[in-house]
Amino acid sequence: MNESAHILLVAPMHYEVRYTINPWMQPERWLQDAAGLHGQARRSFDALAAALRAAGCRLTVIEGAPGLPDMVFPANAGVVLDGRLLLARFRHAERRGEEVPFARAFEQLREAGILHEVATLPDGVFQEGAGDCLWDATRGHFWAGWGPRSSRSAVDAVADYFGQTVVPLELVTERSYHLDVCFCPLAGGEILYYPPALSAASLDSLRQRVPAEWRIEATEDDLAHFSVNAVSVGREVVMSRTTDRLRGVLTERGYRVREVDLSPFMLSGGGAFCMTLRLDRRSTAVQPPVS
Ligand code: ARG
Repeated sequence: MNESAHILLVAPMHYEVRYTINPWMQPERWLQDAAGLHGQARRSFDALAAALRAAGCRLTVIEGAPGLPDMVFPANAGVVLDGRLLLARFRHAERRGEEVPFARAFEQLREAGILHEVATLPDGVFQEGAGDCLWDATRGHFWAGWGPRSSRSAVDAVADYFGQTVVPLELVTERSYHLDVCFCPLAGGEILYYPPALSAASLDSLRQRVPAEWRIEATEDDLAHFSVNAVSVGREVVMSRTTDRLRGVLTERGYRVREVDLSPFMLSGGGAFCMTLRLDRRSTAVQPPVS
């Protein structure tokens, strides 16, 4: 049985890689073959949409805006729960221009009855949306990354707005600049994560909350394949082309892994999860796993 996930995507017509705000970004590689990569991005996007549909998701696709190439990563545009959306505030000037077009798009979703409230963060707080604030449907709380992009104070802002527990996780490397690069709560209750991305205190707090048999450690190779940046819906997991190792681990646990070639988006430091924003998340938790 699948939860019927409703996912927002942003079409890649304005996508390109032309600045560097995370260590994965390769504008020089993009420039070598901009036209070819643009076509490839279009095909990768279509393949991602097809995989998500095949996994049972309902999709809403909006258009991006010229000059704002990273709008293809709507996970960073807001945090959504129970039809309420908290708009992101971006750390880097390169992405700040996305705030207005995204706010407009969310307002339209509100008028369409898909969202029922759109709210703004307190002044001075950076928070880069669901990319840094992942809802754990099994345990009924958010996990929030802070450090490279989102402020530590965003943890309280999200908790205040949603009235939910938010567990902070400090990101200590630039490669895992957003939590969704290195951390993924799977729909079956496991947490897939890359330990070196988190501070010692954050690893402790994760390990206190999630027993060992529910933790799946990703390797550096899995991280470099953007495999932790996965969309998990029911028993389906959609991700960029992964490693034999991780495919084996997930299959063994009863997941069906659907892989998509997302290499044009990896040149911007993104994978499957950050190209999506789930609009249907509800705060009712399913049964926490028993150890
Ligand atoms: N180039 C984008 C940035 O650095 C990629 C964002 C990917 N999003 C994510 N949630 N990991 O902001």
